[in-house]
Amino acid sequence: MALVATVAALLAALGGTVWLAARRFVGPSVRHGGGDSGLMHGKTVLITGANSGLGRATAAELLRLGARVIMGCRDRARAEEAAGQLRRELRQAGGAGPGSDAGEAGELVVRELDLASLRSEEPRLDVLINNAGIFQCPYMKTEDGFEMQFGVNHLGHFLLTNLLLGLLKSSAPSRIVVVSSKLYKYGDINFEDLNSEQSYNKSFCYSRSKLANILFTRELARRLEGTNVTVNVLHPGIVRTNLGRHVHIPLLVKPLFNLVSWAFFKTPVEGAQTSVYLASSPEVEGVSGKYFGDCKEEALLPKAMDESVARKLWDISEVMVGILK
Ligand SMILES: NC(=O)c1ccc[n+]([C@@H]2O[C@H](COP(=O)([O-])OP(=O)(O)OC[C@H]3O[C@@H](n4cnc5c(N)ncnc54)[C@H](OP(=O)(O)O)[C@@H]3O)[C@@H](O)[C@H]2O)c1
Ligand SMILES: *[C@@H]1O[C@H](CO)[C@@H](O)[C@H](O)[C@H]1NC(C)=O
Ligand SMILES: *[C@@H]1O[C@H](CO)[C@@H](O)[C@H](O)[C@H]1NC(C)=O
Repeated sequence: MALVATVAALLAALGGTVWLAARRFVGPSVRHGGGDSGLMHGKTVLITGANSGLGRATAAELLRLGARVIMGCRDRARAEEAAGQLRRELRQAGGAGPGSDAGEAGELVVRELDLASLRSEEPRLDVLINNAGIFQCPYMKTEDGFEMQFGVNHLGHFLLTNLLLGLLKSSAPSRIVVVSSKLYKYGDINFEDLNSEQSYNKSFCYSRSKLANILFTRELARRLEGTNVTVNVLHPGIVRTNLGRHVHIPLLVKPLFNLVSWAFFKTPVEGAQTSVYLASSPEVEGVSGKYFGDCKEEALLPKAMDESVARKLWDISEVMVGILK
């Protein structure tokens, strides 16, 4: 018995040490705006992919800061379930909600991403967070015939943002926040095969879509100069979410993977901090076209700053989604 207890104690100590060491590696886990629950009062924020992972955590954090949060989701049932949980968590945390007198936390609204109705129903939009994403799926096409990762991660948000620009401009100062990934480094915009009909490499296509997110941000920032609408892009770090749903992990490796992800991956709330920061902090007022990680500006590789590629991608994206000028 004594031996078992000793071993258990040692293991617990070891686990604790690994966890603490890993937390340092994972990066700062400051909660942005924690002390300022009214920071986003009166602001309307639309988040895509808000029923899961980073989007859900971003919604929760901005609600706590008093925002009116619109969860843009493709599946109403999944979204309503997530919204119900968020409202319960918020009440338990002592925030506002029906029947509460705290009155500080914001309001949560679920919308299917019906772009046309969104435009007509919302009188203002202060922040758009392009967060939804799909990761390394097998070769698939969107309804419109685009390679899935390029279609969802880049083109879907390209169209959504363009449709909402008028509303964002009339609500200025307003902000657009784009969730990219460090993996952009392994991508390239191969204009000759944007639909990957000649060959498909799922890692390359994810990276390409995330590089497109950055080039889009930089070109949009250029186009928005002087409008008081800013747009910035970020990488959240490696975060424990449902993003890996298409990645097959062999059963035997799963426990090890779970251990590593528990120790070394960020929690969704930690991963959401840079999105929350860019959406709400006075520190980045007027800042546009920049790339952030852990709430700090970071440098980009030259390929992510290539203006001619950014313009060409913009022009081709307009044609692909059928925006007629
Ligand atoms: N997790 C990480 O380590 C990590 C690292 C770098 C970057 N990111 C980026 O972070 C963002 C959020 O991902 P996450 O990690 O939070 O993953 P997640 O838990 O899988 O959430 C992804 C969200 O995107 C939505 N989505 C997927 N396909 C969609 C479509 N066709 N139309 C509309 N919505 C769609 C999902 O909706 P459903 O639930 O309906 O499928 C879900 O709400 C992504 O852009 C991802 O590239 C994540
Ligand atoms: C797929 O793309 C990734 C990232 O660009 C690259 O590292 C890898 O070698 C490619 N795989 C194949 C089989 O070409
Ligand atoms: C942008 O904001 C500044 C400072 O609030 C204001 O003076 C200016 O008129 C605004 N410009 C536009 C285009 O809204």
